[in-house]
Amino acid sequence: MKRFLRAAWQWIDDRVGFTDNVLPLLTHTVPRDARWWYVFGSATLTAFLVQVVSGVCLAMSYVPGGDEAYQSLVYITEQAPFGSILRGMHAYGASAMVTLVVIHLAQVYLHGTYKFPREMNWMTGVVLLFVVLGMAFTGQLLRWDANGVWSVMVATEMAARAPLIGPLLSEFLLGGETVGGSTLTRFFVYHVFIMPGVIFAGVGLHLYLLFRHGVSEMPNVDQPVDPATYKAQYEARLKATGVPFWPNAMWRDVVFSTFVVAMIFGAAVVFGPPSLDAAPDPASIDANPMPDWYFWWYFALLSLLPSAFEIWFILGVPILGFLALFCLPLLSNRGHRAPSKRPWAVGIVIASVASFLVLTVYGYREPWSPDFSVSKLPPEVVGATAGPVYEGAQLVHAKGCLYCHAIEGFGGHRGPDLSNIGRQLTREDLIIRINNGGYNMPSYAASVNSEQLTQIVDFLLTRGARDEQEKESR
Ligand code: HEC
Repeated sequence: MKRFLRAAWQWIDDRVGFTDNVLPLLTHTVPRDARWWYVFGSATLTAFLVQVVSGVCLAMSYVPGGDEAYQSLVYITEQAPFGSILRGMHAYGASAMVTLVVIHLAQVYLHGTYKFPREMNWMTGVVLLFVVLGMAFTGQLLRWDANGVWSVMVATEMAARAPLIGPLLSEFLLGGETVGGSTLTRFFVYHVFIMPGVIFAGVGLHLYLLFRHGVSEMPNVDQPVDPATYKAQYEARLKATGVPFWPNAMWRDVVFSTFVVAMIFGAAVVFGPPSLDAAPDPASIDANPMPDWYFWWYFALLSLLPSAFEIWFILGVPILGFLALFCLPLLSNRGHRAPSKRPWAVGIVIASVASFLVLTVYGYREPWSPDFSVSKLPPEVVGATAGPVYEGAQLVHAKGCLYCHAIEGFGGHRGPDLSNIGRQLTREDLIIRINNGGYNMPSYAASVNSEQLTQIVDFLLTRGARDEQEKESR
């Protein structure tokens, strides 16, 4: 038996070339100082594998169709064997992967590892980073609950306003003019076929380049990178002090990756999957269009900009961000790698982390998402206790206008303040606006009848007029 197994192994080994090709990769010499700093890349890969395995399992029961998607998720969460844990792992795994890939990027940037000869390692990594964010974004819609649908609706409406290509782009992304069943099918294809395909290919290239140029050493103040001499010096130092990748360096990757998987699994078991929102209903204004946390900063940024700039930022920020990162090693690929000699690099990382945190907190609290805890307008603000103006004020609360609009300081800040709207818009303008909705405002044509509409408009027309009356009466 033993002899048979050995013969079988030799046959396989001879045909696939494990000993000849794979073993040398595992045991190739790496710098001895490749320590805990270096575990984030492999951990990102591990998190990706968790996503692949849990994602494939979810896809076995998930139905990417407008009518059934939400139901199939309810089934997965509540009935399918291990469904709840798998959904949890896929959700926390996504958070883990985004976090790890960004830490990996920051570490590689701080240590100047993108410099010669590893420029393309960096560039493939930047492409992978953006595809990973694309995965996170498309995944939200597949949840097909109110949250996921609204987030994508808000984002693509933003994209649609980009100059020139906006409308075409959003129509291509959505598979139609608005978010609907065909959007879901399209996002499913991005999320399950196209983007994972790109990630697999990109990771393959990224790893190939890693082996081709070797793991970088820790930056050393006495060893600035000079492309003319770097490779020879690197080889010489490896010969003198290098250690085999497995086991001397790789055990740390294994330990950290195991820890990451344990955390993802633990979170899925302890906290369960994120609860499903209500089923999507485009006419419902009770949705809180909150994307996943790693995008809050971006929405916060957009909500802070004056709307005239917004259209340039919506696509401008991601495109410029991508180009800046992608081209970085082409602009500077030599000189010092040590952070102590690159104060700008350290400053940029600190500033980025700080702005991320501030914008995230801001995006969580304010104002791009509607505020659902608004109370009714007090009588002194309404200015009437009966009649159409009074009824209109009640409707402005009941129909959710105050979630997004503030009147005299009462209400949310998603949309413009309406305290003086009576002086700014005419009756016709108001009717059109409420019926048709607008950018980030739902259309109310189907959910208010003409009597209610008149009352709302009557009430709104008193806004701002009151000040003048008061002034006159004084
Ligand atoms: C989900 C958030 C949201 C809800 C709910 C909402 N709006 Fe809006 N509203 C907006 C946004 C955002 C704008 C700005 C739209 C734009 O510029 O295209 C806006 C614009 C307006 C305007 C034009 C303001 C101006 O200064 O030009 C009026 C009037 C208005 N809304 C009234 C209402 C009324 C009445 C309701 C309730 C029946 C309502 N809105 C519900 C988000 C909302």
